[in-house]
Amino acid sequence: MKSLSVLILAAGKGSRMQSKLPKVLHEVGNAPLIYYPIKLAKNVGANKIVCVVGKKSDNIIDKIRSFSDYTEIVEQPKQLGTGHAVLCAEESFSKSNETILILYGDCPLISEKSIKELLKLKNNGVDLAVLGFESQNPKGYGRMIIDSAGSLKKIVEAKDATQEESKVTFCNSGIMIAERQTIYALLKNISNENSAGEFYLTDLVKKANEANLVVRAISCPENEAHGINNRLDLAKAEEHFQTSKRLEALEKGVTLVAPNTVFFSFDTDLGIDTVVEPNVIFGPEVSLKDNVKVKSFSYLEGCIVKSKVTIGPFARIRPETILDEGVKVGNFVEIKKSKLYKNAKASHLSYIGDASIGEDTNVGAGTIFCNYDGVSKHGIEVGKNSFIGSNASLVAPLKIGDRAMIAAGSTITDEVEKDSLALGRARQINKFKK
Ligand code: UD1
Ligand code: CA
Repeated sequence: MKSLSVLILAAGKGSRMQSKLPKVLHEVGNAPLIYYPIKLAKNVGANKIVCVVGKKSDNIIDKIRSFSDYTEIVEQPKQLGTGHAVLCAEESFSKSNETILILYGDCPLISEKSIKELLKLKNNGVDLAVLGFESQNPKGYGRMIIDSAGSLKKIVEAKDATQEESKVTFCNSGIMIAERQTIYALLKNISNENSAGEFYLTDLVKKANEANLVVRAISCPENEAHGINNRLDLAKAEEHFQTSKRLEALEKGVTLVAPNTVFFSFDTDLGIDTVVEPNVIFGPEVSLKDNVKVKSFSYLEGCIVKSKVTIGPFARIRPETILDEGVKVGNFVEIKKSKLYKNAKASHLSYIGDASIGEDTNVGAGTIFCNYDGVSKHGIEVGKNSFIGSNASLVAPLKIGDRAMIAAGSTITDEVEKDSLALGRARQINKFKK
């Protein structure tokens, strides 16, 4: 059994992005581009993942480590081209039975299905298998030259293409697969005599043909192969990503009332029979169970939402929030780092931070959890079946027991015991006018 290794190229300067941030740290679906090939490598069963980065790429390395600590990092000291980048990683591949799948760090939308088809092609006696795509606007992509027998003869980079070659619409996605020995034996013979003065990985195709190896290409949808070189590419990739996430949600059994107005992150996870109204945004790390209703103009990030919860309209759910079954969060309610237990409600105009709110407790309109004293954050614990009257200010640190009642308009600074009523406001005085 061959072992599958994945090599990700991410050392390019990305100068066309016009950015101080390295290209692979720009985001699609709220995740840096570099996460996508790593996730893909894991999903297709890679035994080893190696990523080539440029010099002084500490920020890229930190991101890779936080996402996948076993990904090996190799430095390409100078960006002399994609072929050179692969050569820099040679020592990472020592096993004789290694098959290497090469992915590009700037190509985030390739599907697992396309890679599996490429693997199948390789396993059917092909020495070098390349993933291509048809494009009506092939500008900038390497062109795949196929002969009458269906073999891939060479890849011509856009810069080096003749007028005739430029008319070819079958493009190189950059993704290829071959045995380790094949790749490194052939790469040693490539030169940088081309208009970019770079060592092109794509020259491997011509070299493989010269060595009488079998070289084939298959096609994947253009949207998947979309490479990111500038901001327009990035915006288009975001659009493709959102389209496919919306489809995925619909197919899974989620109702999106107006799919084009709902935005997802790369890790958004929604349960069946959940209904999402128009204009909802899912930031990173959101997980919704079944039968949740998210009403219009709500913004969720970093939260776990159990079944039968209602959120919004106009709600903001921030990181480290857990909403248990049947919870109701209404309009203009912001919740941060808090847990609302079963059937708790905060229906209008509240801020809840660093708190836990017990089962069946009702948080009245305009209640503010005052969790910050200007220096540190403190927590507030509210028991079950309690009632917080409207416009109360709860000053942390604070405990409120079960079945307690807080009078409307109160400022509460001291513990409220269970079964008691707390009033913390001046008594009303009525005087006759003169
Ligand atoms: C490359 C392909 C082209 C293909 C296109 C698909 C080559 C020579 N050309 O062109 O045929 O159609 O991708 O998107 O391979 N990189 C390094 N080190 C380097 C140079 C690049 O690691 O010295 C990395 C980049 O970070 C990037 C990837 O390799 O992730 C591709 O490099 P890029 O410069 O974007 O190549 P393209 O011009 O897009
Ligand atoms: Ca590119």
